[in-house]
Amino acid sequence: MSSKSLSIVGGGINGLAIAWRLAQAGCVVDVYDTGAIGPGTRGATWAAGGMLAASIEAEPGEEALTALCLTSQQQWPAFRDELETASGISVGYRDEGIMVVATNRDEATALRHHYDYQIGLGLKLEWLNPADARRREPHLGRNIAAAVFSPGDHQVENRDVLRALVVAAEQAGVRLHPHTPVEALETTDSRANGLRIAGEVHNTDAVIIAAGAWSGGLAGIPPEAKPPVRPLKGQMLALQMDPAAPILRHTIWAPTTYLIPRLDGRLLIGATVEERGFDETITAGGLLALLDTAWRALPTIEELPVVETWVGFRPTSRDDAPIFGPTSVEGLFLATGHHRNGILLAPLTADAVSLAVLGQDMPEIARPFTLDRFAPKAKTKAVA
Ligand code: GLY
Repeated sequence: MSSKSLSIVGGGINGLAIAWRLAQAGCVVDVYDTGAIGPGTRGATWAAGGMLAASIEAEPGEEALTALCLTSQQQWPAFRDELETASGISVGYRDEGIMVVATNRDEATALRHHYDYQIGLGLKLEWLNPADARRREPHLGRNIAAAVFSPGDHQVENRDVLRALVVAAEQAGVRLHPHTPVEALETTDSRANGLRIAGEVHNTDAVIIAAGAWSGGLAGIPPEAKPPVRPLKGQMLALQMDPAAPILRHTIWAPTTYLIPRLDGRLLIGATVEERGFDETITAGGLLALLDTAWRALPTIEELPVVETWVGFRPTSRDDAPIFGPTSVEGLFLATGHHRNGILLAPLTADAVSLAVLGQDMPEIARPFTLDRFAPKAKTKAVA
């Protein structure tokens, strides 16, 4: 057991999961957030879709990230069980699998190309003809030209995960400080000493920055430890289905838009991908693009009431991969830059960052994702 004192900036899924793990290890942990923590928050964890989609979202050139996502995906069932037992809250884990649908022949050609790449990685996916796809989801449009089914990609209700983590973390002894803006990181001689809050310095043995898209903006971070993350805006909406007779059971991806059915009958449709800083505006164009693509895949949505619209900010790094673990500033650790994968990567992030904070090595698979991959490379002299 460790008796380290730790401050965590950011009370989203990754900040709370790390806090929970480190409190279990005997540390004294304080979590600070500018806004609410758990109920009432509007951060990226609350805004997310909750897809645990390591296979279907695997992209060329991101093989190390895919391996990381698959590892965390395998950890999710045990993480869910532990979290539900500790909190008494169900996190809405659904394992029907995820389907990608092509709504015309051009999309089917692109889907086949992507499928061939993913199958080449050894991912477990099934190619479906239109009749197979509609057998699984009878309300899919008559225009569906092909589909890919990923049985291993699941989903959780991310807002319930957040509620559960608050309970589990507090029971383990974590002290939560919502509505408590951190003014600055305090450092001396390239060592993190703690945080300045409301003019007072709170000294701790280590600081973990897990503040999503806001992580790079904390004052006092030495330039060499500043994570290169930016907000990537996503607009979403929810329709209401009859929970006793939902028109969709699997999560489906039409090429640029996903539809996620929840157990309570909500049907989430997301998400735009916009470089607009922290602009919270919900636009007609954003909703139109989402609804148009969703309607082409599942025309019966046109009868459903819209019950919610919202905006979230993905914390996106320069290479779309997370940034976690130690920095060159002693006592300063990061857990940010999760881009589209904050929910999926939470179990692995919590374990890897906790090990690093406790002075142990992170698992090998996590090591390529520290901040030092962005460090400027030393210039080598040309040899004549
Ligand atoms: N992971 C879903 C999204 O980024 O929209």
